[in-house]
Amino acid sequence: MAEMMKALLQRHEGYAETSSGSVLEAMEPYVELAEIERPQPGDGQVLLKVRLAAINPSDVMFIKGLYGQPRQKGQPAGFEGVGEVVAAGSGAEGLVGKRVAFATGRSGWGSWAEYAVADAAACIPVIDQVRDEDAAALIVNPLTALAMFDIVRQEGEKAFVLTAAASQLCKLMMGAARDAGFRPIAIVRRADQIDLLKKAGAAHVLDASAPDFGKQLVAVMREEKPRVFLDAVTGPLAGAIFAAMPKRARWIIYGRLDDSATSIPEPGQLIFMHKKVEGFWLTEWMRTTPPERKIEVVKEAQMRFADGRWATDVTAVVSIDEAIERVPGALAQPNGKVFIAPG
Ligand SMILES: NC(=O)c1ccc[n+]([C@@H]2O[C@H](COP(=O)([O-])OP(=O)(O)OC[C@H]3O[C@@H](n4cnc5c(N)ncnc54)[C@H](OP(=O)(O)O)[C@@H]3O)[C@@H](O)[C@H]2O)c1
Repeated sequence: MAEMMKALLQRHEGYAETSSGSVLEAMEPYVELAEIERPQPGDGQVLLKVRLAAINPSDVMFIKGLYGQPRQKGQPAGFEGVGEVVAAGSGAEGLVGKRVAFATGRSGWGSWAEYAVADAAACIPVIDQVRDEDAAALIVNPLTALAMFDIVRQEGEKAFVLTAAASQLCKLMMGAARDAGFRPIAIVRRADQIDLLKKAGAAHVLDASAPDFGKQLVAVMREEKPRVFLDAVTGPLAGAIFAAMPKRARWIIYGRLDDSATSIPEPGQLIFMHKKVEGFWLTEWMRTTPPERKIEVVKEAQMRFADGRWATDVTAVVSIDEAIERVPGALAQPNGKVFIAPG
């Protein structure tokens, strides 16, 4: 008889027709807890007993049908996690018995389940010093943080701007930037995050909800002359920041947390000040970056967690049985990540 497992299954196929925003108001409309047959790994794939699965904004956007790839009704959700390799298809046998950080993708078997299938190429064996909470969130945010910091380094200016700066990703990036002598300008929407982010590596922290935010923004742009603007928020806030930036500014959009319309307040700046608008997607970086650089980045991310320079802030670890009820409330808390524990 086939072995069964619990999983949080997607309830819809494809993309949503209208945007419902980046906030997860409830799980029920998008996923359901069910018992299904345990999957089998194909060639070059592994079967993982999931220890912890991350919940990232990309997972939320995905189950809502707002992400860059279509949903698959009846398949488990969840893009990353940590687990033990319990079986392997041909060519992947070397991973059996290892604890690995993994990203799901082409297989369609997500991490919000007791077992998941991943390509061996998307598995990173983790060293003992890395906690499960760090390993479960080792790929999506850490690799994006280091990949986008490469863009900042290449651009040359020490100062750069970040929105949604209290996100896990930005805290990691600011730590790496401070260690290398860079000067992050962090934009948040809560005054109580200012001290926290100065400790995390920000040279300046601006609260976008403060009445004098506009004045502070202009002053900091004059003083620091940042070139790169890494933006996960979009909307009117991002447009205003881009307009205040000096010539040759690059607005690099990598998230869409504010789903309201986004305009370029001064399009003439694209003509006369050589400003540019671009996008960044880790999936594309993975496809186009030389393997040697990817290996270096993965190694650096793991070492930073192992030696304590980085640590994932944890808001809650929720059991798979309680996920439907508890995840939206846990995600609404600021300053940390939420994980699903399937076991
Ligand atoms: N393009 C890529 O390849 C890629 C890869 C990885 C991550 N990302 C993106 O990076 C971003 C951060 O991810 P994460 O996992 O680090 O996030 P996270 O830890 O869950 O934190 C999310 C942050 O976004 C802020 N936020 C949410 N909605 C907002 C809004 N409407 N206006 C302003 N701020 C808002 C929150 O602010 P509060 O603290 O005030 O609640 C919080 O600090 C996400 O957009 C994610 O999709 C993109």
